[in-house]
Amino acid sequence: AVATVTACSVLPSFPSSGPAFVPDGPPSFETALPIPPLAESEVVDGVRVFSLTAQEGSQQLLRDDRTTPTWGFNDDFLGPTLRAQQGEEVAVEVQNDLPEATTVHWHGMHLPPAMDGGPHQMVEPGTQWRPTWRIDQEAATLWYHPHPHGSTEDHVVRGLAGMFLIDSAEEQDFGLPSEYGVDDIPVIVQDKKFLDDGQFQLDAQGNEVGLLGDVVLTNGAWGAVLDATTERVRLRLLNGSSARTYDFGFEDRRPFALVATDGGLLEAPSETDHVRLSPGERAEIVVSVEAGTEAMLQSFPPDLGDVVLPSAYGGEDTFDVLRVRAAPTLAASPPLADRFADIPRLDAADADTERSFEVQNREINGRRMDMNRIDEVMQVDSTEVWEVTNRDLFPHNWHVHDVQFQVLDIDGAPPPPELLGWKDTIYLEPRRQYRIIMRFEDYADDEQPYMIHCHLLLHEDEGLMSQFIVTRGEPSRDGGRVGSGGH
Ligand code: C2O
Ligand code: CU
Repeated sequence: AVATVTACSVLPSFPSSGPAFVPDGPPSFETALPIPPLAESEVVDGVRVFSLTAQEGSQQLLRDDRTTPTWGFNDDFLGPTLRAQQGEEVAVEVQNDLPEATTVHWHGMHLPPAMDGGPHQMVEPGTQWRPTWRIDQEAATLWYHPHPHGSTEDHVVRGLAGMFLIDSAEEQDFGLPSEYGVDDIPVIVQDKKFLDDGQFQLDAQGNEVGLLGDVVLTNGAWGAVLDATTERVRLRLLNGSSARTYDFGFEDRRPFALVATDGGLLEAPSETDHVRLSPGERAEIVVSVEAGTEAMLQSFPPDLGDVVLPSAYGGEDTFDVLRVRAAPTLAASPPLADRFADIPRLDAADADTERSFEVQNREINGRRMDMNRIDEVMQVDSTEVWEVTNRDLFPHNWHVHDVQFQVLDIDGAPPPPELLGWKDTIYLEPRRQYRIIMRFEDYADDEQPYMIHCHLLLHEDEGLMSQFIVTRGEPSRDGGRVGSGGH
């Protein structure tokens, strides 16, 4: 007999009850938003050197006396904000004081693959790893997190994550609020689910999209308030969650300026009242506040057109994220420029190579991640166009290491304003096709691969990831084995 495939029969199973989201949030949004400290650094022989120690800790995250065992960098939970200038040489002394091996990946960074902190750069307990590279990209909000194959979700959920900000001289000219922790605010958003004893739930319990929490933390606090003291505030939003996609906006639907996406500033501020971020994506927004008033940053159900994502997949919830409370008198903010810098458009006509990627279940083009297999070989100094298709009825996303890409079209239509800038991660709505374009500039290495993967961490851990090398000249390792040094 021939089975009839209907939409229903391909919809994966999901728990009948959702994550029991706490719709009204905690009793009050009174906890001052914690601001991750700026990491100290020292310039030695022209290299800015940071230190990050991954360590165990505990934290009181709930509103009773339960404590949660956590992991953090230089701290109990989360990590400091690293900050460097475009063009600077940096190094990070990573020390692993955890009971198991981990890695530290610089998400969004253009750097040699051996410095990338992917699953091949494991740092064993009690050892150090010291990547060093030159910052060679635009001002942007990047972040760092572990990437051990099969355990990324576990390590990130426990608290290993932080921001990495890149500054440029050019960016100073645009009237962007830029005083860290005053009017330039990092906002790391992560939903968590807690067990009765206060531990983080680390198991997705059969949910197809992964681990969804009912408590939303901002910089590690549940129900936080940001006290604004200036007329305009820049929020650097990072979705550091495992699986949940947020559609951020204010409760009163006030407009704000979207100024930057993953890889840097847009060409101009884009006025909107919401911005959708899937796991790993960032957006910088500039919002105006009025003295003595408040605004609640919320998350709305993501609009997926005719697909309705059930609540169990995080699709139907509206909830409070961060309260913004403006002081009775506010310091003046500089006027925001109405244009930033031009973004050179990459042209599909210049593509040297085209590839297509089909994403389905936990596979890319029918294959799951194999640490010992190189899936794609890219040439240094080449332009590529990729067609990326989500074949599933639930969302994925698509993250490429090393490069920032541009979106050419979505199901043949031009991208919306929020997808006109540099991106390293893009949400893949169910059943849609995305064409993206990118350049592989340098950092040839025939042994060490970069990763491409879904940033829904359960999917990544279960194998929705593949490996590519960037090579110079003849591809020597097409379909070859990794790390054997030749065969
Ligand atoms: Cu944010 Cu491959 O990772
Ligand atoms: Cu996925």
